[in-house]
Amino acid sequence: MLRTHTCGELRIEDVNKEVTLCGWVQKTRDKGSIIWVDLRDKYGITQLLLEEGTTSEELLKKAAKLGREFVVQAKGTVIERMSKNDKIATGNIEIKVSSIEVLNPSKVPPFTIENDTDGGEDLRMKYRYLDLRRATVRKNLQLRHQLMKETRAYLDGVDFIEVETPVLIKSTPEGARDFVVPSRMNEGEFYALPQSPQTFKQLLMVSGFDRYYQIVKCFRDEDLRADRQPEFTQIDCELSFVERKDVLDTFEGLVRHLFKAVKGMDIGEVPHMPYDDAMKYYGSDKPDIRFDMKFVELNDVAQGKGFNVFDSSELIVGINAKGAAEYTRKQLDALTDYVRRPQVGAKGLVYVKCNTDGTFKSSVDKFYSQEDLKEWANKMNAETGDLLLVLSGDIDHTRKAMNELRLHMGNELGLRNKDDYKLLWVVDFPLLEWDEDSQRYHAMHHPFTSPIPEDLDKLENTPGDVKANAYDLVVNGVELGGGSIRIHDKTVQQRMFKALGFTEEEAQAQFGFLLEAFEYGAPPHGGIAFGFDRLCALFGGSDSIRDYIAFPKNNSGRDVMIDSPSKIDQAQLDELNLSLKTK
Ligand code: AMO
Repeated sequence: MLRTHTCGELRIEDVNKEVTLCGWVQKTRDKGSIIWVDLRDKYGITQLLLEEGTTSEELLKKAAKLGREFVVQAKGTVIERMSKNDKIATGNIEIKVSSIEVLNPSKVPPFTIENDTDGGEDLRMKYRYLDLRRATVRKNLQLRHQLMKETRAYLDGVDFIEVETPVLIKSTPEGARDFVVPSRMNEGEFYALPQSPQTFKQLLMVSGFDRYYQIVKCFRDEDLRADRQPEFTQIDCELSFVERKDVLDTFEGLVRHLFKAVKGMDIGEVPHMPYDDAMKYYGSDKPDIRFDMKFVELNDVAQGKGFNVFDSSELIVGINAKGAAEYTRKQLDALTDYVRRPQVGAKGLVYVKCNTDGTFKSSVDKFYSQEDLKEWANKMNAETGDLLLVLSGDIDHTRKAMNELRLHMGNELGLRNKDDYKLLWVVDFPLLEWDEDSQRYHAMHHPFTSPIPEDLDKLENTPGDVKANAYDLVVNGVELGGGSIRIHDKTVQQRMFKALGFTEEEAQAQFGFLLEAFEYGAPPHGGIAFGFDRLCALFGGSDSIRDYIAFPKNNSGRDVMIDSPSKIDQAQLDELNLSLKTK
């Protein structure tokens, strides 16, 4: 070992010990006759002291030349500090240095390696290895490690085994776009990187593995956002001989264990909400239930009073922003601007203030009497001091816009506390959703999800009405995981492919291996996959999963550090029998 202790280890009890430390120079303060050096490693920071009189000239000169991020080995004696620093764990001591060796010098780093750095996102990503020296970023990865360890411990404890599945697989038309990899040995043919190990884990159930899991990289070529990366990690699981309740209980257990082990929190019972209710009351399949502000439909009290906008709307829906009647004209205008943004897409916003004197002031006073508004207020359980916000239009768009407004108000009123965790199972999703562009049904989850048995007969005639035996785990408005009970019967799987518009030949060509496997004794099975990066971000209290990935990609899907993706040379293209289309 090049060191006797780490930079986070020494305390007052260690005074008088002879020690050797290694680390990076975070900072030097040179007062001429006295030099302090902050030496940093993964474990902390220790102050080194060099003083004229007791330190040799030569050593002082050497210390004065140390630059930021030099890697050094320092030997010396632990002494008590004159002025203590209670902000760091080693703040009671310092090292009176007897020798310093530069193990490696460093160029001046492009940003300061401190918790609050001066490096912007682009610069930090280009030099991610320096960014990762910062304690805040490193702590995120330590959290990730801990969650991974606890996940494995829990699943191992309930008889799951981890099995690796291949990364070079086959492209399929369902789901997001695939990343593909050309095959040199099979001219003109391509592998695809897995969007998830879905079919493999089902095949493992056919093989009798009973309980499988894998912490696994998945790849999806889709538009990126704060909670989406082109390559991300899932905790992927599958179980045999189970019903929905068994899967939910098992994985509520996993999440309960993680909260307890990592945060010391008890999550309590996790409520269930049917998809239809989630849409009706929150306008989202992943409602944030940390706060109430449920949608109230107002068609019966708001229509027929001569306000054309409402009379011609399919849905009129309101939320009650409790205690917000004090909102000023300016704040209300800002809310109107907010809902009109293209991302939200509402045409306008109606408000009703429930004044403290019991009267109402609304933006539609021309059309509605005080009695009318009182009726709205009653329906919305409003009290004096509340602010009612109302949107109207067609059902889907209005719910979507109201969901955005509700979340926005939740933020404005401070109702979305990061330390408050509210979990929810959303269940009974539709099996299929109609896609206007391709004029066919798509699987809402994936094509292997089983319909609920009572709805099976609707698959041919009213496919849009079939409910899926699927579930999502939602935490604070984030879809953390999703899964389903699967189809394990070849005929049902074929009917499903047919409902999705596959011909028999297409189904055979794409998924023949699975259909065939179902003929060799496939057990009833089901499972779930959690977004592991999202789990980390949630536990860390951040909206961005990038902070919890060692080497993430930016929003254009680029790794700016290694400069990828990149062009490949002609010889490589030729070998792969690829030619680039020239425009
Ligand atoms: P699904 O597609 O819902 O299900 O994915 C499971 C979970 O993975 C996370 N996730 C992502 N995280 C980061 N970046 C992405 N691009 C991304 N896409 C998805 C989400 C999501 O809930 N095979 C099925 C699971 C099953 O049925 O068992 C599947 O992949 O948190």
